[in-house]
Formats: sequence, C-alpha cells, structure tokens
Amino acid sequence: MGDRRGQVVAVPGPIDRARRRLGKLLLNQLDRWSGPFPTSSPDLQAEASGLAPTGLAFVGCGFVADFYAANLSLHADLKLVGVADHDSSRAERLAQRHGCQTYPSLDALLADPNVKIVANLTNPHSHFEISRKALEAGKHVYTEKPLAMNLADAEQLVALADAKGLALSAAPCSILSPTAQALRRAIERGDVGTVRLAYAELDDGAIHRMHPEEWASPAGTPWPWRDEFKVGCTIEHAAYHLTWLVVLFGSAQTVTAQSARLVPEKHPDLPAEECAADFSVACIRFESGLVARLTCSIVAPHDHSLQIIGDEGVLTIDECWHFQAPLRLQRATPLARRAETYAWIGRHGLLSRFFGLMGGRSDLSPKLDFRSRVRRHQMDYALGLAELAAALRSGRPSRLTAALALHVTEIALAIDRSGEDGATVKLKTRYVPTA
Ligand SMILES: NC(=O)c1ccc[n+]([C@@H]2O[C@H](COP(=O)([O-])OP(=O)(O)OC[C@H]3O[C@@H](n4cnc5c(N)ncnc54)[C@H](O)[C@@H]3O)[C@@H](O)[C@H]2O)c1
Repeated sequence: MGDRRGQVVAVPGPIDRARRRLGKLLLNQLDRWSGPFPTSSPDLQAEASGLAPTGLAFVGCGFVADFYAANLSLHADLKLVGVADHDSSRAERLAQRHGCQTYPSLDALLADPNVKIVANLTNPHSHFEISRKALEAGKHVYTEKPLAMNLADAEQLVALADAKGLALSAAPCSILSPTAQALRRAIERGDVGTVRLAYAELDDGAIHRMHPEEWASPAGTPWPWRDEFKVGCTIEHAAYHLTWLVVLFGSAQTVTAQSARLVPEKHPDLPAEECAADFSVACIRFESGLVARLTCSIVAPHDHSLQIIGDEGVLTIDECWHFQAPLRLQRATPLARRAETYAWIGRHGLLSRFFGLMGGRSDLSPKLDFRSRVRRHQMDYALGLAELAAALRSGRPSRLTAALALHVTEIALAIDRSGEDGATVKLKTRYVPTA
C-alpha cells in the first residue's frame, strides 16, 4: 500500500493494531502513574537553609518553564517572584499556576529589587539579548543553553558578568545529579583505570514522525517543534554530554565534526531550508589526550547513553536525562574481552552475566525508588538555580561557572557549524575543573 508520497508502507493487521493500542495505553498509564516531574525524592530534596529564600524571575514562560516551575517545590530556598514573556497570556497562565506576579515588560522585571536571579528560559536566539539586559541591570543570570548563538556574543556575556561582579550560570545542571557525581567519584577512585575514550549518544528518535505538534507539557504548553527544528539537535542537546565531559576531563583542545540535514522536509508548515542539521558526530580531543565521540541526532532511535572507557573497564549510564540513572561498571577481564567477540553471547542475559559482559551496578550508583526507576526521564531543572542561590548566599562561585558554559557553548557551536567538511577546529576557550 502506498502512502501520499508514493512510498510503500505496511498496513498493520488486527493483532498489530490491538498491540499498538494496548501498548499506548500502558505507556500512558505508566507516565501518569510515575508522574511527569519529581516533586520529592530523598536524593533530590534540598535542605532549606533557614534563611529567606532567594527571589528569582523567569523570562520566557514556554514549555520548559513549566518543568522549572514544578521542580521549584524541591527547593525551599528559591522563591519565584514573578514571570514575563512577550506572549503575555503565557506569563499570566504560569503566574496563576504558581502564585506569583506577571511583569508587563522585561524592564519592569529587571527593576524589581526582589529579583536576585533572572532565569532566562527564552528560545536560544533570545538568550544573548535577555542575559545581556539582565546583567546590565545588575541581576545574576541563570540561562538555558547555549549562552548565545555565536562565540563572540557568548564571550561578551562572560566579560560583562565579570566586569559587573555578577554570576552567569547556564543549564544543563545534570552534572550536579546523583548519577553524574557518582560517575565522577568512580573515575577519581580509579574504577576503570586510566580513561582513554568516551562514547556519548544523544539520539532522540525521528521526532518529525512522532507528531511533535501534538506534544505539550503536563500543564498544557505546546512543545516548540518549529523552533527545535530550526535551532537543531546539536545546539539543543549536545551540552548535556559536553558539560559532563568537560567537568570530568577538563579542557578540550580540538573538535573534528560533521553535521548534516538528513531529513530536510520535517513538516508541511516548515520550509526545508529553515531546518537546521538533524545529525552531527564529533571527535573531541581533550588536552589530557582523551578523545570523546559525541553523536547527536533526531533521526536515529532514542539513545542517551554514555560510556567511559578506561584500561581496566567501562563505566556506563544508559540515560543522561535521568538524574538517578544507574551507574554500571564492567571490568575488562581477559575472559570478558574474549567472550564479547561472540555477539550471540551478548544477546543472552544469563550467559552475558556469566562471562562478565553486562557488568554490575557500581556501589556508588544512586539508590532509587520504584517510581523513579520507571520514570522515563527525571531531571530537576531547578537544581542549577538552587546551586547558584546557595553559592551567592555563601559567597562562593556556583559549580556551574561562566567559564564552563562558555567552553561548552564553543564546542557545541563548532560541532553544529561543521557541515560536511569535517574540518578540525582549534578551540579558543579553556575550562579548568574545580574540586
Ligand atoms: N523544549 C524542551 O524540551 C527543552 C528542554 C530543556 C531545555 N530547553 C531549552 O529551554 C529554552 C526554552 O525552550 P522552550 O521549550 O520553553 O521554548 P518555548 O518556545 O516553549 O518557550 C520560550 C518562551 O520564551 C518566550 N520568549 C522568547 N523570546 C523572548 C523575549 N525576547 N522576551 C520575552 N519572552 C521571550 C516565548 O514567547 C516563549 O513563550 C530553550 O533554550 C531550549 O533549548 C527546552
């Protein structure tokens, strides 16, 4: 049977249709039962300091702002004072749900002395302008990634924050998660010996075939599919793995990458030429000699895994968007090295375990309750804001420094802009990990 574009597509039989309906029902129930966001979890619940909460305001009240706002309940030290969006109806809806004020303009928000931190949750093309104005108005800034859409603008923001003595911090904050911290300790403890290589995947499935125009946050805000396709998966997602890699292994020196637009026609309402690259692969060489291979796509099936490969074994996590994802350790014994050359052994759970191929849960792996275990993703978006507020209260720098955000932004931009040439880019910025 042909579809409208003349391609041959299989027509599902009655059993297949019933299986799909049941499967959809089950996954919907699972999502509903496990809850869309963590609102309490012993590992994520922050202790309140007993001091007055730090006032913050959101600029941008779209899809992701709903997740930030919901996660604020995990952090008693943060108080959402107000919100603004150039779509005032969005700001009003969010303010109503979370009991705060709306500002009629960005200037009004920036003039409020109760706002200490501006959370820049606008679309990537607005990041630079909003962060710049907030810093100029004397506010500390926490921005969604990237810092800006070009390196010169990103550098300007870092210099401005520095000159004004203000903090500039950026998402993602998943490096602060229990899983990332466990991974860091396992590497430092030498669980896999000298680390030589990292494989990082950020494949999100063929989103253009999943009706993204129907997606919405649990609060009903539509997913910005148009903007996501225009900005591209590398700028949207590379930072999740890059932040971990840079914090774990320090400065990268060069990036050799290719990016491509594999599916130009993503939606009848979006001209192909407006879509950015939907695939990229990069080899990132670190000053230490370690190489990381990072793949991003919205074409290949979902895979958010990270493998850290050392002389003595491999540390793996299977979902970088789950703050308490299990950390697995596979030791590189001679028996396992030999057995892994038989592909079929790896396909059998028992045999695979017998030969030590699957590895086991690291003793450092976070403990998680059943609900967290079945949840698809589990991110506390507000954790980076809480870290910034705690840092400001105690007069220390946030662990998510401006230098980290700048280095990650430079690498992501280099990958995204690499195109078909695959040229090697020598990076300009550096990041020295802190203890
Ligand atoms: N969508 C996701 O799944 C997701 C997940 C994590 C992070 N992010 C990041 O969060 C940011 C926002 O994404 P989103 O999904 O919420 O997008 P969105 O389009 O749903 O929301 C962005 C909001 O910002 C507002 N806005 C844009 N420019 C503005 C300006 N100059 N002044 C005032 N308001 C402005 C828009 O009106 C919109 O309501 C992006 O940087 C994105 O990369 C998105």
